[in-house]
Amino acid sequence: MEFTINQYEFGQRPPVTLPSPKFLELLKEAGIRQLISDHYDLLSKSEISHLFPKIDEQLDKAKQRSSDFFIQICGGHPYYNENRGKPMLASRHLPFSITPEARIVWLNCYEQVLSKLDIPEDVIQSFWDYLNVFSFWMVNSKSKSG
Ligand code: HEM
Repeated sequence: MEFTINQYEFGQRPPVTLPSPKFLELLKEAGIRQLISDHYDLLSKSEISHLFPKIDEQLDKAKQRSSDFFIQICGGHPYYNENRGKPMLASRHLPFSITPEARIVWLNCYEQVLSKLDIPEDVIQSFWDYLNVFSFWMVNSKSKSG
């Protein structure tokens, strides 16, 4: 299993391929919600914890919004559109300063939770490939070191 992280030029928005619907078929909604919850719990202890809600209730809401999104893009029920409207995720990330380094931390936390899943590698790979590319769309700040 290759958890490759591509490097892009600042401002690039490479074309994205959605994950395989098998990701949802195999994990079911509950499995995706658990995965996202575990990811947020790691983020809350990471070097970019300052970006995420500190209060449990708010963190739970963040977990729900993100889970709704991932279930939807894996071909599931359009919970996100119902609850939040059009995703427009790059715009929704603008209030947070996301550097290329923050993206790496965010992806590393995903690598930890994805590598524990008991589903075929090619299905995990399709989810990772999506995160690897689309995460760059959220980078909106240059590295602190310039
Ligand atoms: C590049 C690294 C990323 C960082 C550091 C990051 C950080 C954040 C932060 C700070 C928030 C607001 C707090 C919250 O609601 O969790 C957020 C919200 C969210 N993020 Fe990210 N994010 C990243 C990439 C992504 C990617 C690649 C996706 C989708 C594939 C995504 C999906 C979402 C969603 C769905 C929300 C909730 C938006 C809403 O409805 O309010 N994020 N993210």
